[in-house]
Amino acid sequence: MKPTLVKTRDELRGALDALPGRLGLVMTMGALHEGHLSLVKEAKKHADHVMVTVFVNPTQFAPGEDFDKYPRNLEADLAAVASVGADLVFAPATEEIYPNGNANVTLNPGPSATVLEGKTRPTHFAGVLQVVHKMFNITGADVAVFGQKDAQQLAIVRQMVRDLDMPIEIVGAPIVRAEDGLALSSRNSYLSEAEREQALSLSASLKAGKAAAEAGNSADEIKTATRSVLEDAGVRVDYVELVDPTTFESVESGEGVLAIAAYVGQTRLIDNTILNIGSIIK
Ligand code: PAF
Repeated sequence: MKPTLVKTRDELRGALDALPGRLGLVMTMGALHEGHLSLVKEAKKHADHVMVTVFVNPTQFAPGEDFDKYPRNLEADLAAVASVGADLVFAPATEEIYPNGNANVTLNPGPSATVLEGKTRPTHFAGVLQVVHKMFNITGADVAVFGQKDAQQLAIVRQMVRDLDMPIEIVGAPIVRAEDGLALSSRNSYLSEAEREQALSLSASLKAGKAAAEAGNSADEIKTATRSVLEDAGVRVDYVELVDPTTFESVESGEGVLAIAAYVGQTRLIDNTILNIGSIIK
């Protein structure tokens, strides 16, 4: 069945009244792919009804980033979420979410937002938390599902919910990959055929890093093994880091997120995997 489409807060309120029980939320910026659909499927396990937001949030883009060219296709998005049984889609205009223009009260995401993605995109996570907080309040959802693909975003949203005692459960869902290993991302649509081939070095580099970890190598050796696959493929590395999954501080042992960002042509892609450092004594 087709999900109900609403565009305003008033319409949303009416539509939510018709969906009793536990409400699951999947927030997206549209350009939906199998990765997003896996979030909807996960949300259905935790809720009676699932709603999807489609909103390209301007406050998480810095000037010069891809806000204007970000792919938008609501018709295709509606068909995609219908195929996995979402009940409701909220696709508001910018003014519906930011009726007063720039907000005076904003959130400071704290130290974990200053590293990795936050180093290259210093205002990004404040913008993400702003819209996530607003959507949690506007929808009153009981549970929200976020992808592990944006591992730092997931960790920072969890921190916001914990630190501000927000009455919502956060569920993480695994990365969905194409058969050849490329992590699904709306930004993959920017890649030429040759660039897409080159982009396979991201998942290949994580495999190399994981193999290095499994062979008992140190954090530095794991990062070097990862970086060398990216450099050999000729992509421009932004970062290769091994961090604690919760705090995003560097780790030398135990569980870590091996997180990478690289430019393939003009397109900046991210990927990550979870591994154990120092689990084998050489
Ligand atoms: O992950 C995204 O697509 C966005 O950051 C989100 C969570 C929809 C907020 O705009």
